[in-house]
Amino acid sequence: MSDMRTLGEFIVEKQHEYPNASGELSSLLSSIRLAAKIVNREINKAGLADITGAFGGENVQGEEQQKLDVYANEKFKAAMAARDQVCGVASEEEDEAVIFDSELSRNAKYVILMDPLDGSSNIDVNVSVGTIFSIYRRVSPIGQPATIDDFLQPGNQQVAAGYIIYGSSTMLVYTTGNGVHGFTYDPSIGAFCLSHESMTIPEDGKIYSINEGNYIRFPLGIKKYIKYCQENVPEEGRPYSSRYIGSLVSDFHRNMLKGGIFLYPSTAAYPSGKLRLLYECNPMAFIIEQAGGKASNGHQRIMDIKPTELHQRVPFFVGSTNMVEKTEAFLAEFPDED
Ligand code: AHG
Ligand code: MN
Ligand code: MN
Repeated sequence: MSDMRTLGEFIVEKQHEYPNASGELSSLLSSIRLAAKIVNREINKAGLADITGAFGGENVQGEEQQKLDVYANEKFKAAMAARDQVCGVASEEEDEAVIFDSELSRNAKYVILMDPLDGSSNIDVNVSVGTIFSIYRRVSPIGQPATIDDFLQPGNQQVAAGYIIYGSSTMLVYTTGNGVHGFTYDPSIGAFCLSHESMTIPEDGKIYSINEGNYIRFPLGIKKYIKYCQENVPEEGRPYSSRYIGSLVSDFHRNMLKGGIFLYPSTAAYPSGKLRLLYECNPMAFIIEQAGGKASNGHQRIMDIKPTELHQRVPFFVGSTNMVEKTEAFLAEFPDED
């Protein structure tokens, strides 16, 4: 239940937990909140306005851009640029990192990485989509333009991460490393209100989420794990339910609330997995760990991977700790032959 605290109030309240906080991170989170409201407004009327469908271009990864991908990217970028709070932005929809070069932004100490619209192919059919963001302290000297090294940091260096889910209601969920908190948007007052304080994911779950259409080319360990999920063992709650929306944010959010695992392994089309380490996996890994869950590439903690390129992809297994560990155990027990 909402206790009437808004996101803005909550951010100010939490700032006192960081004795040396300068307020810059708080103000950055406020800009994200504003961009989320603007994107939410457009998404809500997507069927009315001429904003559904393809934009006519492709992003650097060769994926068709939807009009709302481009719109959300511009709005989040503009919100960051307007207040000189970050020295640069990396986005799934940008080929290269965007370095802000005003005098004020050169003095900013954070960079942000984002997937402005996640699950965008679901927009045209009125299914939930999201935004994912991840914030790091720069490693290059303050006063200079940001460099690529500021963006290629392992996830364990994240200062904050979060997502917005534009669903049956719109929510913003974030962590700064002190638990995970969720806020539901009340459109009648235009505010995100605290609805889910200190979110935790159950250690075990009964939901598995995977695109089984790709089954034939899954690693052997994943095929075995899927069969394990489907086995009839009522005393262990199996078979599990299969739930797959095709928007990572939505699948993740449901599993976090109910307990479950989301899997995107290597496939024929995506030999390294489809999801992007920097824009999708790291922020979700930070959130899930803060909620008591786990995120792995099958063998290694996601947040310990040292990125080598901006748009890098990784296999991704995230959710209830025991389910992720079971998946890792199957991958270890049944390695692929080649
Ligand atoms: P995006 O819309 O940002 O490109 O992300 C889509 C991602 C993710 O949201 C989802 O989990 C996954 O792609 C679905 O992929 P498949 O259609 O291959 O299952
Ligand atoms: Mn995405
Ligand atoms: Mn996207």
